[in-house]
Amino acid sequence: MMNMRTLLTTLVFAAAIGAKAQTVEVAAPQNVYARQTMSLNGEWNYFADVQEQGYYDYRMKPTAWGYFLNAKPQRPSDLIEYDFDASPTMHVPGDWNTQSEQLFLYEGTVWMKRDFDYTPADGRRALLYFGAVNYEAIVYVNGKLAGRHVGGFTPFCYDVTNLVHAGRNFVIVKIDNKRHQDNVPTRNFDWWNYGGITRDVLLVSVPETYVEDYSLQLDKVAQRKKRTVSFSLKLNRQEAGREVTLSIPELKIKRTYATDAAGTVSSQLPVANSQLKLWSPENPKLYKVEIAMDGETLTDEIGFRTIETRGRQLLLNGQPLFLRGVCAHEETAYSNRRCNSAADADTLLSWARDMGCNFIRLAHYPHNEHAVREAERQGFLLWSEIPVYWTISWQNAATYANAERQLTDMIRRDHNRAAVIIWSLANETPHSDARDKFLGRLAQTARGLDSTRLISMAMEVTGASNYVNRLQDNMNQYVDVVSFNQYVGWYRDVNDAPKMRWEIPYAKPVIVSEFGGGAKAGHHGDKGQRWTEEFQENLYRENLAMLDKIEGLAGTCPWVLKDFRSPRRPLPGIQDLFNRKGLVSDQGQRKRAFYVLRDWYEGKK
Ligand code: GCU
Repeated sequence: MMNMRTLLTTLVFAAAIGAKAQTVEVAAPQNVYARQTMSLNGEWNYFADVQEQGYYDYRMKPTAWGYFLNAKPQRPSDLIEYDFDASPTMHVPGDWNTQSEQLFLYEGTVWMKRDFDYTPADGRRALLYFGAVNYEAIVYVNGKLAGRHVGGFTPFCYDVTNLVHAGRNFVIVKIDNKRHQDNVPTRNFDWWNYGGITRDVLLVSVPETYVEDYSLQLDKVAQRKKRTVSFSLKLNRQEAGREVTLSIPELKIKRTYATDAAGTVSSQLPVANSQLKLWSPENPKLYKVEIAMDGETLTDEIGFRTIETRGRQLLLNGQPLFLRGVCAHEETAYSNRRCNSAADADTLLSWARDMGCNFIRLAHYPHNEHAVREAERQGFLLWSEIPVYWTISWQNAATYANAERQLTDMIRRDHNRAAVIIWSLANETPHSDARDKFLGRLAQTARGLDSTRLISMAMEVTGASNYVNRLQDNMNQYVDVVSFNQYVGWYRDVNDAPKMRWEIPYAKPVIVSEFGGGAKAGHHGDKGQRWTEEFQENLYRENLAMLDKIEGLAGTCPWVLKDFRSPRRPLPGIQDLFNRKGLVSDQGQRKRAFYVLRDWYEGKK
């Protein structure tokens, strides 16, 4: 056996080494859906590989015999013990947990393959783009390694020009969603660990030199008659003298620029106040923007608004803002699987709108781009967060690099979205010097990447004695908005609520980023009986009255819009592997507390 294997191993390895030199990971292009793309969504063959024998040999060393070769028997006696084409299929984008009963609770490796036809074109490059894969993805094209990515909620992209060829090609992805202490998120988290290629896969055709990224932001300073829009652009290469044209037809802006030696453009565009309609929840105005280079035009929809703080006030377009929010996971209504389209988002957004919300905390990880753009079109302000959740490995350099990469990719993808007003760095993290150092570095990175938005994180109240809650967190110095989670009424007696006093010694706007309690929809009884709608309703009444007494409260987003799947919630007949803190059940039933919140928000309009 070994001999045959060794021979093949050498052959393949030689090829692999060749392949390695031929691919590079490239920045995911800004506004990828506006580019020339071929969708690789659809039915992909798959099979689980519990022992990862398609990747490691029996000595647990990476093998050149791997399943990534998509090998087929050449002679009757050949031994090939897998066959993608004879294996079942599942839909991409999508999680494997809700597409295969066998994989419902599965955490491990799954191999997926898709064939595609490709026609090379002169002067064009082929980029293989993934919207997201949870958690680790090792990507191969035609049996050759393209790259490896970790982190389940942000895009990544490889230049596979040297791996694809005319005619039939195949892409294979080894996906592993096993949880580890040093990952981001770490081993324990209160949501379903959906595995798979959960967002779109695209083959993007670009010229040798293309617009990699661009930014359009309204400056905060408003003069009497005019405002300034800052425009910046970056090519994928440092090339000077490339001509790019920016057009915003409705604002009668059309400017042509030449890139500098670094392949960038940076410009300040004056716009008359009288002309500019600012983006807001009441009027989510988006402008058509075109960026043209070498006969190719990128079209985008961009809103202009400013977000800032003044003391304890939040200001949107210079006006005081109260955030009427709700938290939401990226999970569909009714089918309860990973969302990955505007339609998936629309159902959830319609519930939030009916509750009177103007703000959504996208918990606890960046949600898909379709959802962010749909929320923007519908006028929802957004909080976007990376999954630095509970107790991660603060002193592990790879964990930090991973978190920073996720932060960078989140900001890079959505920095043109007017709807996104807050970048959140973390949720409920324990106090320590190592944690402070870790999060402090992330805060500086975020500021360096985007100085136009606010920074926050969901803190925990630590200093509580009797009925006095004191928020003390060293991270207050890094954030623009102090946000904290509290669960009076659920993890603490609801009757304490009227007596509660909150001490928040920071002259910054305050957001209560989580509060709430569980209820099984349709389960009724006395308000003192846990899991009844009346219990949750009463909890909301008491909490909202308590929140009204918090000085500097600039908004809130209760936990949570919809009951969502969680392996941490096994209670039979009540939870059944769902966190039941939703204001709406997983099947769309609005609980009594839904209306309590709606009425309270009515008063905040
Ligand atoms: C935490 C956490 C959530 C979790 C919630 C709960 O505060 O941030 O992710 O689901 O509490 O216990 O329901």
